[in-house]
This record gives sequence, C-alpha cells and structure tokens, in this order.
Amino acid sequence: MRIDVLTLFPAMFAGPLDESIIRRARDAGILDLRIHNLRDWTHDRHKTVDDRPFGGGPGMVLKPEPIFEAVEALRRDHPVPPRVILTSPSGRVFNQTLAEELSKEPSILLVCGSYEGFDERLREHLADDELSIGDYVLTNGALPAMVIVDTVARLLPGALGHDQSSVEESFSEGLIEYPHWTRPAEFRGWRVPEILMSGNHAEIARWRRQESIRRTFLRRPDLWDKQRWDRPPKS
Ligand SMILES: C[S@@+](CC[C@H](N)C(=O)[O-])C[C@H]1O[C@@H](n2cnc3c(N)ncnc32)[C@H](O)[C@@H]1O
Repeated sequence: MRIDVLTLFPAMFAGPLDESIIRRARDAGILDLRIHNLRDWTHDRHKTVDDRPFGGGPGMVLKPEPIFEAVEALRRDHPVPPRVILTSPSGRVFNQTLAEELSKEPSILLVCGSYEGFDERLREHLADDELSIGDYVLTNGALPAMVIVDTVARLLPGALGHDQSSVEESFSEGLIEYPHWTRPAEFRGWRVPEILMSGNHAEIARWRRQESIRRTFLRRPDLWDKQRWDRPPKS
C-alpha cells in the first residue's frame, strides 16, 4: 500500500514511523510511505501557506492554492488515484473499522492541517474524506496522520508476524480484548487463572470470549450498545 502525507512538519515523522513493525513493513515493501513538505508547493520567497481569515477572528487559515497544487501533483504521480483525507477535529472519528476499510485501499493521501485549519474549499472541492482521531485538539495534523498510518499499516497482510494477531485484538469484533498473562505462573502471590494453564484450547477460547464480553459490558457501554449479537465471532 502507498501512503503519502502532506505536512508542514516532515521532521516530526522521523522516529515514530522508522521503528518496529512499521519499519519492517516499509523495508519489506508492504508499506510505501512518502512524507512531503507542503512548502515545496509555494511560489513566494517566504513559502507562505497561510493567511488571515475572512471575517476576522484569531489565528491563520491554510490557503487553498498550495494544497490543491500539491494534491493534484501527487495524484498525477499515482498509478491509482489515492483517497485524499484531511485530518481535522471536525471529521468522522477514526476507529478500527475505518482503519480496516483504509487498509484495503491501494493508496491514501493524508493532508495535515495547522493553525486554525483548512480553507473550506479544500473540504468542499478536494478531499474525499475528513478524519478526527478523537474529541480533543492537537497543534497540527502530524500526530493524527502518524496514528492513522500506524493503525492502517499494521493491518496490511504480512505486516504483523502472526496475521491472527490483528484479528483477535481489541475492537476487531466490536469488543475489547481479553486479558493476557505470561510467566511466572505466580508472582508476589498473584496466580494466573488455572484455565489458561489447562491445555484445553476449546475451553480457553470460550473463557477468553467471555472475558472480552464481560469487559466490554463493564468498561465500554458505548461499544456494547453497538454490538450485533446475531453475528457469529470471526475465526
Ligand atoms: C489547532 S488544530 C485546528 C483546530 C480548529 N480550529 C478547530 O477548532 O477544529 C490544527 C490542525 O491540527 C489537526 N488536528 C488537531 N486535532 C485533531 C484531531 N483530534 N484529529 C485530527 N486532526 C487534528 C488538524 O489537521 C487541524 O487542522
């Protein structure tokens, strides 16, 4: 999968996306990640990307011209036109279902906002989608873009060592995950549940599913209410 990111802060991406599973996915050619500096599509001496809002008010707004020009140039560079996504607190709230949907796209282009955000014409005439990573406001779209890249990349076939890992984890079935333990079997007097050491895989699977259901009911009533109980579990 190819992911392009358009940002005013390309240096922020070095580090988080250069380690661990994402690094391996990039090295293996599973993820083709390209970070672009929005200022490369400006034409004035000061590389201006923002201007004052019409109607007054605090802060600056991202101008339409450099972003239109950048996105159009990157679209031409793609064999398949990418889905263009603005990062914005007013977008649809990103979740695991959306991550799964995006991981099936051949390519996406994430546009990071800054200052007060985007000129509205970018929303109306350029973007295919607008995503928020939660109901809080960050200083710019670099961290949201990294969150989206990380979440999507680990779902790509071959990115995780064991493909089942992403099937069984939190939110994959609208439930949060069951608890895990590792050795030692007893630590400071706290013992691991006996069932997990029984070797009875069918019973263990049943117990884990019950724990997922119990925890979702107790901790995430919002997810519980959205459950479709007629749906068989994923295998
Ligand atoms: C300071 S914020 C702009 C906030 C905007 N004035 C508002 O009230 O919605 C600057 C940029 O950071 C990014 N951003 C901030 N919080 C975000 C969130 N929760 N999800 C996605 N992007 C976010 C967006 O790209 C946004 O354009």
